[in-house]
Amino acid sequence: MAFPTDRPRRLRVNSAVRRLVEETKLAPSELVLPMFVKEGLTEPRPLSAMPGVVQHSRESLRKAAAEAVRAGVGGIMLFGVPTSKDPEGSGGLDPNGILNVAIRDVISEVGDATVVMGDLCLDEFTSHGHCGVLDEAGQVDNDATLESYAKMAVAQAEAGAHMVGPSGMMDGQVGVVRQSLDAEGYQDVGVLAYAVKYASAFYGPFREAVESSLEGDRRTYQQDPANFREALREVALDVEEGADIVMVKPALTNLDVIAAVRAAVTIPVAAYQISGEYAMVEAAAANGWVDRERALMETLTSIRRAGAQIILTYWATEAAALLRSRY
Ligand code: PBG
Repeated sequence: MAFPTDRPRRLRVNSAVRRLVEETKLAPSELVLPMFVKEGLTEPRPLSAMPGVVQHSRESLRKAAAEAVRAGVGGIMLFGVPTSKDPEGSGGLDPNGILNVAIRDVISEVGDATVVMGDLCLDEFTSHGHCGVLDEAGQVDNDATLESYAKMAVAQAEAGAHMVGPSGMMDGQVGVVRQSLDAEGYQDVGVLAYAVKYASAFYGPFREAVESSLEGDRRTYQQDPANFREALREVALDVEEGADIVMVKPALTNLDVIAAVRAAVTIPVAAYQISGEYAMVEAAAANGWVDRERALMETLTSIRRAGAQIILTYWATEAAALLRSRY
């Protein structure tokens, strides 16, 4: 009988050894919490498809932001849900629009203790639910949309955002946002670029969270999940246009893309663990089919291992606390 001479199991014999040789470690500072705030709410409102996630009132947003900071999260990404929408999505550009008001609220609550970011997209504010303005034929007008993004970026910077996150997948969005921020004196406001964003079925629960009015889909601007090389093209453009961080989204279905992007760039790489990824684990856990904590930490570890240095996740506050108790 030929007994093995090399025994990998020796490094798994107990938790102390396993901890010593663990290759991938997560830190709370690498987690970013996406948060929703709805205009006019007096109490937070739970989301049925995302158990544990709420639409915040302005008041509850401040509290939850402070709690996230205490847990040590690296950043907060804010999404606003307005009470009224129009075809131009003008609420996103309005300094008194809910998102800009919320940025101001959170900055006054947490200051520079974490990185406060605003979602830079029109879809929460447009009556048709698209990420941009439409032309006469009803198609998303790329360049007219860029003009709105340029103004929206400045409005968010004026509200105090440390970073903006252009997520609409318009061609040239990072370039115009960078230029308009610089022109208004906001050289230090960063751009977290949604560089690779696939048209995904897993955004489903998010549509409830922002009360999206979208009919149809976003396939003329978001990417086909079948494409890989195109992702690298999008990343190269965003880097050239001045992105400070590039992001891949969704995370778990695109680990190969995350790894390739990490190899291709020298700036930080982020990944967004989206609403549907969250909902799948929560739903399975609620049925007793998976161990919730282990499952959520496993997804985060896999995304980190693939090469995402920063992870946007709805579990950020909880995961940060779990990590602190672990290490
Ligand atoms: C667009 C935006 C979306 C998400 C983040 N930014 C929705 C979309 O592109 O349809 C989805 C996030 C998630 O599903 O958790 N503003």
